[in-house]
Amino acid sequence: MQILTTAAGLQAYTEQARRAGHRVGLVPTMGALHAGHLQLVQAARAECNEVVTTIFVNPTQFNNAEDFRLYPRVPEADAELLGPAGCTALFVPSVEEIYPQPAVLRFDFGALERVMEGAHRPGHFNGVATVVSKIFHMARPHRAYFGQKDWQQVAIIRQLVADLSFDLEIVACPTIREADGLAMSSRNRRLDAAARAAAPLLYQVLVAAAAQVRQGVSPAQVQAEAEATLAREPLLTPEYVEVADAQTLQPLVEYQPGRAVVLCLAAHLGGVRLIDNVVVDA
Ligand code: PAJ
Repeated sequence: MQILTTAAGLQAYTEQARRAGHRVGLVPTMGALHAGHLQLVQAARAECNEVVTTIFVNPTQFNNAEDFRLYPRVPEADAELLGPAGCTALFVPSVEEIYPQPAVLRFDFGALERVMEGAHRPGHFNGVATVVSKIFHMARPHRAYFGQKDWQQVAIIRQLVADLSFDLEIVACPTIREADGLAMSSRNRRLDAAARAAAPLLYQVLVAAAAQVRQGVSPAQVQAEAEATLAREPLLTPEYVEVADAQTLQPLVEYQPGRAVVLCLAAHLGGVRLIDNVVVDA
């Protein structure tokens, strides 16, 4: 596995691969890798000759300085996991390499970002769109792999690709969970034992809510019951629970025939902010 640290090095690497007729898959991450990330690498490897993984804790997408400071960074352990998963090149740039000057361009994704993560983390998707656009330009992949764990992020990136005519395909992969249902996340490393023990409640609440959606319980009632269940766990501070259209992400007043529903939540648990979602197909 090749280690690349400069934009020019990444560009040269993928340009050569393209000239050789190879397909290039890209897996953007912020590191502290787990099985959720590694399945993206494996999916890319199954479809592409070259798999470029990027590890960059992107400062512009953190709306909370403490969250950025405490974000887990384990570069050596990450590098060891990537080769066996099928990664052929690892891009680990410095902040200066990605942002030689502060970006002034601002992204506005309209209604897509006025809800959930966009509403609760001002500037977050601007930072995501900025760094993902830069990495797309540097790597020029044929395909880029993202996780449905961040459902809204996938929607935003699909919009970015459509609006800016990036010549690549977005592949969305399912959420990988721990045995007890907790969605894998780099931030899980920061949970203490008590918080970790309470954390599976997030997925349990989503599963129960999904069953209610299938039974036709109204979106308002599903939301209220999920919020009430979360509120009963003393270690947990819910931030939002949304019952939304899976494509537009807009909150639902009533179900629309033929349209999938996404149930999304964010909560603070022992000082760590976690998100999760479950999709109920039409
Ligand atoms: P990060 O949180 O490191 O996630 C990198 C990719 O892994 C994202 O596409 C995310 O959705 C996916 N992922 C994380 N946990 C997952 C899980 N349990 N199951 C499946 N996929 C999972 O998302 C980011 O980084 C950043 O915003 C980034 C896109 C890299 C831009 O900085």
